[in-house]
Amino acid sequence: MGGAWFETVAEAQRRARKRLPPSVYGALVAGSEKGLTIRDNQAAFDEIGFAPRTAGFAGERELGTTVLGQQVSLPVLISPTGVQAVHPDGEVAVARAAAARGTAMGLSSFASKPVEEVVAANPQTLFQIYWCGSRHDVARRVERARAAGAVGLILTPDWSFSHGRDWGSPHIPERLSVREALRFAPEGITHPRWLLDWARRKTLPDLTVPNMYDPGEPPLTFFGAYGRWMQTPPPSWDDVRWLREQWDGPFLLKGVYRADEAKRAVDAGVTAVSVSNHGGNNLDGTAATIRALPAVAEAVGDQVEVLLDGGIRRGSDVVKALALGARAVLIGRAYLWGLAAAGQAGVENVLDVLRGGIDSALLGLGRRSVAELSREDVIVPAGFCDAARPQGAAAR
Ligand SMILES: Cc1cc2nc3c(=O)[nH]c(=O)nc-3n(C[C@H](O)[C@H](O)[C@H](O)COP(=O)(O)O)c2cc1C
Repeated sequence: MGGAWFETVAEAQRRARKRLPPSVYGALVAGSEKGLTIRDNQAAFDEIGFAPRTAGFAGERELGTTVLGQQVSLPVLISPTGVQAVHPDGEVAVARAAAARGTAMGLSSFASKPVEEVVAANPQTLFQIYWCGSRHDVARRVERARAAGAVGLILTPDWSFSHGRDWGSPHIPERLSVREALRFAPEGITHPRWLLDWARRKTLPDLTVPNMYDPGEPPLTFFGAYGRWMQTPPPSWDDVRWLREQWDGPFLLKGVYRADEAKRAVDAGVTAVSVSNHGGNNLDGTAATIRALPAVAEAVGDQVEVLLDGGIRRGSDVVKALALGARAVLIGRAYLWGLAAAGQAGVENVLDVLRGGIDSALLGLGRRSVAELSREDVIVPAGFCDAARPQGAAAR
């Protein structure tokens, strides 16, 4: 399906671009405003070099680790994304791929598939919460995730409703009515394989968010839910603590960027933080997450697990993040390209590409396991972290 195996994430992206209607592809690229952050998330990895070793290598390397209470076969988790209209199997395909490759899945509240189906496809599912509605509303969603068997909770507070993009935002209909379907039709016709995937399942993207309303209630659309979210005051640190208390399992606070806030997250009792800028979709002008990682890792020590997401496109990026203090990384667009290119098989392919890249970087560095990676393995140019350090914060 969709052609054979691909060898890089860049190739998966090319195939996604070819296959998807431009508005769906555009929604995945996303990035806000001028795109400064989305660019830096990737570019910053290129500034970091390796310090390879020559002999004394291990014949086999250990890529597995534990993160958020989960045993995973590689230090790469699926980051939650609202995967509307990319593929008819959506997050269920992603969950199956993650399970097949031995890793955990973050499921967005704005996902297109119900949490029950996703947990059935991958028992290592963590449910992601946006702060939308009252505490009571949030608690109901948490309760549903718990009842479904989610093994962890992710809170993502970092969103500032910035909607401008210099290259234009794609038109996404509220609902795929006949009128909208006709408006959408030229894109579908010029991208027949995407359309065929939906036609085979006798369905069309319905753009609803089934985890944002209870089964039996009238469906809520993506934009309906988004509107409610915009009207909700953002969570306070009290709210973070409150939510943490509603959940007795692993709890990830996603979107921590500053060392001082990482310490507050520790005080709030979280299990882990992800150094994240929402993949460059939030406050444009925020520097790459990999620049912010060392200060966060240093600030929290081993009090909580430190993860990173943003800009991961190859195994060597994962290794650089681990060398600078991350326990694991989360990926967003990389697996979305794979999903768009070839469904479940495409996501598995992306995870395999990353696994291969991590393994060969470990080999080149003479490391036996991901746990052995340290700062000695990388060369970080002077001033690399400066763009992520608030004025007045001590230099490392
Ligand atoms: C299309 C798209 C939708 C996203 N939706 C969510 C979401 O619903 N919840 C969330 O916590 N993060 C969301 N994110 C952010 C990702 O979880 C992650 O932080 C980001 O994609 C990482 O950067 P990368 O794409 O460069 O790997 C989304 C990202 C993209 C690209």
